[in-house]
Amino acid sequence: MAETIREAYIRKNPGSAELYPRFKDVFPGGGGGHDMRVAEPFPICIARGQGTRLWDVDGNEYIDFGLGSASLLLGHSHPAVVEALVQAAPRGSQFSHPHEAELEWGERVCNLVPCADKVRFVGSGAEATMLSMRVARAYTGKEKIVRWESHYHGWHDYAMPGSLPPFDVPASTGVPRGVMDSVIVLPPDLDALERTLANDNNIAGVITEGSGASYGTVPLKSGFLEGVRKLTRQYNVVMILDEVITGFRWSPGGLQQKIGLDPDLCTMAKILTGGLPGGAVAGSDEIMRVIAQTGDSHHDRFQRVSHGGTFNANSYAAATGNAALKIVATGEMQETADRMAERLRVGLREIVDRYEVAACVYGDSSTFHVYFGARSIEGFDAGTLKDQPLDIQNAFRQALQVRGVDLMSRTSGVLSGVHTEADIDRSLEAFDGAFKAMVDEGLVSHS
Ligand SMILES: Cc1ncc(COP(=O)(O)O)c(C=O)c1O
Repeated sequence: MAETIREAYIRKNPGSAELYPRFKDVFPGGGGGHDMRVAEPFPICIARGQGTRLWDVDGNEYIDFGLGSASLLLGHSHPAVVEALVQAAPRGSQFSHPHEAELEWGERVCNLVPCADKVRFVGSGAEATMLSMRVARAYTGKEKIVRWESHYHGWHDYAMPGSLPPFDVPASTGVPRGVMDSVIVLPPDLDALERTLANDNNIAGVITEGSGASYGTVPLKSGFLEGVRKLTRQYNVVMILDEVITGFRWSPGGLQQKIGLDPDLCTMAKILTGGLPGGAVAGSDEIMRVIAQTGDSHHDRFQRVSHGGTFNANSYAAATGNAALKIVATGEMQETADRMAERLRVGLREIVDRYEVAACVYGDSSTFHVYFGARSIEGFDAGTLKDQPLDIQNAFRQALQVRGVDLMSRTSGVLSGVHTEADIDRSLEAFDGAFKAMVDEGLVSHS
């Protein structure tokens, strides 16, 4: 009997398996600090990363298409980012005062991102979307936020309604009723948005993940973002573009620059920091002014958005952010990442065709997604696309891991500007082997 995917995974990862009980002793669920890091029978434990590669505690090497949850457009440990961190390290980690690296970082953001007249740094992408919603509410004096089924905006309370199917049940327990009542979840449909905006005059903003839900797992129809812009303008509602994924990746100025969109606010994180914790909200001067203190005690106490955060614009994150954005600004990394992603998607489609499996491959910019169950996702809604059987997804990721490739989620990934054609071709061999193993185990059906 040939070794199964699961048996190969267990055989190749004795060190990770040995550490797992200790993880379970300390962390609820055993996966460390994030729901997505939980895996069956245990997750691989990573030791280091360099360029396009990760190495785990057993010495296994991976071509990485996860790239720090899409934060590393420049790859792991890019020399310029490492140098910036090394230079910054002895000068102090946290000043809690304005500092020049923060100023330079803010200027870089405002120069690169079209809608950014003003920027506020925060601690993460989730904090960015949370602050953006508060700013929209404060600016309009209205209470509700419209969001789209299955779009991911982080884990805070206001991001939980509608982020997972079934969309009428929040993605987490522990979310107060009051929060649920202040978030309207819609299918990504402009008519639905127009009806909602016309019938409810308590709407502050509409937040949209620029790529479509979960970095494009559920692609948006062409013209959708422009339609949201038109309607939000028409009804005086703040358009928030969540560029935590697309920011600096779709182009140096993000998706908004690439397609010429003019959101009121945008949220950023990931590539923004060069791979350290952090995020930002940026937008028009007029709207961002709701955060400003004026010195008028009545205004500052009663008429403005309060915002804090010890580690906002932390000096190490500002240093690595500046180093990364300097490189990002040239557009070369994005151009290479997009080209490599296209090479990968084309190669993956050839493999799917060769094995005649019911699967399809898609993705924009430097992303790729594999959907198991159909040869096309045409007409599929978020509920269907987000509902692939977990055993198939797990087997796919593990079949790749044992062949030296890792993904961002179980069935999709992102590329960097340092992936090479040789990396892609080597990865495609691993994908070929993974599809074959899945066919052999009867996990995927023929189309
Ligand atoms: C589109 C989008 N928004 C917000 C977030 C939350 O960012 P963070 O994980 O930094 O809190 C993410 C994270 O993946 C994201 O993809």
